[in-house]
Amino acid sequence: MGVFGGAIFVVISLLVSDLAVTTLGHTNGKREETVEAGSCDASAGSWVYDSSYPLYNSSQCPFLQKQFKCLENGRLDRDYLKYRWKPAGNCNLPRFDGRAFLFGLRGKRLMFVGDSLSLNQWQSLTCMVHTAVPEAKYTLTTVAGLSNFSFPEYGVQLMFFRDAFLVDIVSTSTGRALRLDSLQNAKLWEGVDVLVFNSWHWWLHTGRKQPWDYIQEGNKIYKDMNRLVAYKKAMNTWAKWVDSRVDPSKTTVFYQGVSPDHATASDWGQPNADACVDQKHPLAVRRYPAGPNPAELVVEKVIRSMTYPVRLLNVTYLSQLRVDGHPSVYGLGGHRIMDCSHWCLAGVPDTWNLLLYQSLVAHNF
Ligand SMILES: *[C@@H]1O[C@H](CO)[C@@H](O)[C@H](O)[C@H]1NC(C)=O
Ligand SMILES: *[C@@H]1O[C@H](CO)[C@@H](O)[C@H](O)[C@H]1NC(C)=O
Ligand SMILES: *[C@@H]1O[C@H](CO)[C@@H](O)[C@H](O)[C@H]1NC(C)=O
Repeated sequence: MGVFGGAIFVVISLLVSDLAVTTLGHTNGKREETVEAGSCDASAGSWVYDSSYPLYNSSQCPFLQKQFKCLENGRLDRDYLKYRWKPAGNCNLPRFDGRAFLFGLRGKRLMFVGDSLSLNQWQSLTCMVHTAVPEAKYTLTTVAGLSNFSFPEYGVQLMFFRDAFLVDIVSTSTGRALRLDSLQNAKLWEGVDVLVFNSWHWWLHTGRKQPWDYIQEGNKIYKDMNRLVAYKKAMNTWAKWVDSRVDPSKTTVFYQGVSPDHATASDWGQPNADACVDQKHPLAVRRYPAGPNPAELVVEKVIRSMTYPVRLLNVTYLSQLRVDGHPSVYGLGGHRIMDCSHWCLAGVPDTWNLLLYQSLVAHNF
């Protein structure tokens, strides 16, 4: 009996660890559903050349912002458009079916909340869906940081709310306080059916790019602190909000995962390269030379401590391999502001959306 029980346990834990979109929180039935859906681990794998890629033609996505339009900004090499993520083992990501996506989400609202990497993924998703149903009417508005892309015939709203830290920045007489334990903006997300959160890159900014003057936690004031520690505290504030305020039977919560930048070429063993400039192909390695991103480990730890079953889009490793996927000098800033953080569209965030799609399909939306 002991052996038998042990064997079953091993099989189940293998399946669980084998999930594409890992539900890290614990069991309230959702985890079992994911296992039954038979999805497989998409976090490990490799990029394969696929002549049917990209998933859409960026010049036919009229609302795509200039910062992601690498071809239109003069990028000439095109191989970077042609890679499909092939998860390891006997596993493939589903082909994106925009009609099925809209039908599954009919009557619902989906919102990305986070920084410009959230904008990147939201723009990718709206291009993917628009390409699938080019004749379907849509409206697009942006008011006070909230962008609303809506397909009225389906009653579907795909939104993006810009909120780089998730926690609050409050202006006071003594300066701008980054409040690690305060989440006032959450009012704006409450009641949204599908939430996709992300925050990380802004935690690293210093000097003029840092939009706060001091850090506050409770009554304690800090001039600065280790940014990874601050990030973890803020993520725990977010986690507490999700655990106490979000009903898993009504709202699905994703974490977008940490998007790696490629500003330091020694990270992937090319110390003489100029960051991501002139990179034309993904890395063909089985392990990213610099190892996991420290922020990714924080996210995993925080999510694991939660009662709400957050679904992590585990995009870090697959994106780490895409040294070729960034705008570099074909973004907003040309040679002046090289961009090795965001991603060209079409491009890598399309795959993040395939993970999102796979998870929604597996749970019947
Ligand atoms: C995310 O993917 C990486 C690379 O495959 C893996 O090492 C890590 O364990 C995954 N994280 C989770 C929470 O599944
Ligand atoms: C993308 O669309 C543009 C404008 O409609 C067209 O000129 C171009 O050939 C298309 N590119 C591909 C690869 O189909
Ligand atoms: C988004 O736009 C749709 C269509 O115009 C509208 O019905 C809806 O109320 C908007 N949602 C928000 C949150 O503004």
